[in-house]
Amino acid sequence: MAGKGILIEGLSKRYGSGDTAVDALKKVDMQVAPGEVVGLIGPSGSGKTTLLKALGAVIEPTSGRMTLGGEVIYDGGWLIKDLRALRRDKIGFVFQAPYLIPFLNVTDNVALLPMLAGIPNAEARQRAAELFQALDVAHRAKAMPSQLSGGEQQRVAIARGLVNRPPVILADEPTAPLDSERALAVIRILNDMARKLETAVIVVTHDEKIIPTFKRIYHIRDGVTYEEAGEGVLA
Ligand SMILES: Nc1ncnc2c1ncn2[C@@H]1O[C@H](COP(=O)(O)OP(=O)(O)O)[C@@H](O)[C@H]1O
Ligand SMILES: [Mg+2]
Repeated sequence: MAGKGILIEGLSKRYGSGDTAVDALKKVDMQVAPGEVVGLIGPSGSGKTTLLKALGAVIEPTSGRMTLGGEVIYDGGWLIKDLRALRRDKIGFVFQAPYLIPFLNVTDNVALLPMLAGIPNAEARQRAAELFQALDVAHRAKAMPSQLSGGEQQRVAIARGLVNRPPVILADEPTAPLDSERALAVIRILNDMARKLETAVIVVTHDEKIIPTFKRIYHIRDGVTYEEAGEGVLA
């Protein structure tokens, strides 16, 4: 599925109301082209997770506009009826914590999503196997999540975020538990996937190891975004 990228215009999000209201997003403008991986950087509490959740239709924004894959999904209100289908088909999440299903082995954890989307069993497993190879966890394909190290679990969770080949991938601190070599491997995979499948990728990070890999970076501070050119060095 070829994506058409992400466009966010004047997005805001207020949690609560009255005296206790928090304006987590005040004015967010962001554009990610198909095939592009951008960094999103900001201090704790600046609105990064709120932005990913709004874009991923997990929470409802307060105002503004969001366009995914050429389709306006939010314009002061949702324009999409089936938000579950939107999340399942259009968006790959990679969270900070892996959240693997404890009673399924590593391969089943990853193959489950494409199987739910109607991809034949053998192809779902083949896709999982290819990602495991690229992420250097192929030797753990039959293990249970509890048998893996934290870094291995995170790499499996990354495979799960990529396996359905969504047009948009939202990654919240995906490399935090990984060593430098593996963190860069993950960014390389995200870049390859993005290019091949025209995926638009947003990576929230504090990770000094990967910040120089982005060609474009958005900074967020107190709910307002600022764009900056990055180094774009991916050795
Ligand atoms: N469910 C919530 N209810 C009320 N306030 C929230 C909620 N989630 C986040 N916030 C507030 O919104 C602001 C942005 O939070 P968040 O998006 O989690 O920032 P970040 O991911 O950059 O650390 C913070 O002030 C936070 O306390
Ligand atoms: Mg956060």
